[in-house]
Amino acid sequence: METHIIIWIVVSLCAGCLAVLELNPVTDPVIGLVGGSVLLEIKPPGPLGGMIWMFGPEDMPVVSWAGSEPEIDLDYKNRVTLNTKTGSLQLKPVSLNDSGVYTFEGTVFVSAEVQPFKGSVTVTVHTLIGTVIVNPNPEQPIENQALNLTCEVFGSKTVSSRLWLKDGQPLSASDRITLSADNSTVSFNPVLLSDNGEYQCKAKNPVIEVASPGYILEVNYGPEQASITGPDSAAEGSSVTFTCSAQSLPPCNYTWYFNGADAVQGSQYKIASVSNADSGSYTCVAWNSVTGRNTSVVKEFNVTESGSGSGSGCLKAEIAQIAIGTLSGIALLLCLSA
Ligand SMILES: *[C@@H]1O[C@H](CO)[C@@H](O)[C@H](O)[C@H]1NC(C)=O
Ligand SMILES: *[C@@H]1O[C@H](CO)[C@@H](O)[C@H](O)[C@H]1NC(C)=O
Ligand SMILES: *[C@@H]1O[C@H](CO)[C@@H](O)[C@H](O)[C@H]1NC(C)=O
Ligand SMILES: *[C@@H]1O[C@H](CO)[C@@H](O)[C@H](O)[C@H]1NC(C)=O
Ligand SMILES: *[C@@H]1O[C@H](CO)[C@@H](O)[C@H](O)[C@H]1NC(C)=O
Ligand SMILES: *[C@@H]1O[C@H](CO)[C@@H](O)[C@H](O)[C@H]1NC(C)=O
Repeated sequence: METHIIIWIVVSLCAGCLAVLELNPVTDPVIGLVGGSVLLEIKPPGPLGGMIWMFGPEDMPVVSWAGSEPEIDLDYKNRVTLNTKTGSLQLKPVSLNDSGVYTFEGTVFVSAEVQPFKGSVTVTVHTLIGTVIVNPNPEQPIENQALNLTCEVFGSKTVSSRLWLKDGQPLSASDRITLSADNSTVSFNPVLLSDNGEYQCKAKNPVIEVASPGYILEVNYGPEQASITGPDSAAEGSSVTFTCSAQSLPPCNYTWYFNGADAVQGSQYKIASVSNADSGSYTCVAWNSVTGRNTSVVKEFNVTESGSGSGSGCLKAEIAQIAIGTLSGIALLLCLSA
């Protein structure tokens, strides 16, 4: 403390002789990493007479020197080195709370005169960034609904910027895709199938940049465009299969209803041997359990009788002709003339 006071007096007294020189530090601000070192370097214009470094708005003394041994404040014991030739200060190791403004005052001899000087330098100490993760909310994105992707950074309180990438390219914001002020959240309102892709967040501070693993966005949708494939009609006794399909992610579940009743699960509805009673409307309900949406489609099916009626008789005759190897052209002629 004694030396602090002596130097203060020297600087104050000399302020009367020569104007105080404003000295710019070599680097400002000085960036540091927790546990590492920072060098507050100055280059005064002559041999150093005395020097004091102070920290923070209250000018807490760090170290002072008046020609003999530097006097180091208790809080800085074993982690401060003062270069008594240049007045530069090294702090090692540094922690987050060493961030702030350091001011210095001192004197140099210039042409046998005592020249006082002063100045300040800002130090910002950063932590390494640990893990960076992209989290979706909701967990299962649904087409035409809102989706947020959040960039979570673990192991650092000093993230200075975040950058979003889609398929390796910077994500472009729009009316529909907006970024929060600190880029920690991307909001899709709403999310569309065209947003599918691989998303990454890169978190950065002045000492390090860390990218998240890729998050694959697959928007759930559907069911859409449900349809039933199968015959419109079939002869009594034949076997028939109806297949229902729809576009959907995840794949949807199908439920069949015949004439409004008889629910059957699965994409296919099979009838081993059709009878007259199987004529009617077959309804397929496609259900996506994630989107919660249902779509239905109806198919009318007729069973043609295998005996009476000119049309069906012809059909029967034709089949018989083909079966015994006669040209089908003759059968067709028979049908037309009947
Ligand atoms: C600054 O941080 C270090 C390490 O975290 C701690 O030991 C020290 O007490 C802190 N100093 C002040 C003034 O908060
Ligand atoms: C998405 O984030 C915004 C603001 O960050 C919030 O208002 C909204 O509720 C969030 N939506 C969802 C689905 O998490
Ligand atoms: C947010 O991202 C944009 C680019 O998408 C970038 O220009 C901006 O600097 C970023 N801001 C922060 C605070 O990370
Ligand atoms: C939907 O189908 C899946 C498999 O396709 C099955 O695991 C699931 O239990 C079905 N859900 C319902 C409600 O039937
Ligand atoms: C959709 O279909 C499933 C299964 O058939 C049913 O449980 C559910 O209630 C239906 N939802 C709507 C909205 O119709
Ligand atoms: C089923 O038969 C009825 C009466 O013969 C007919 O009006 C209808 O169009 C047929 N439907 C189909 C799908 O063939």
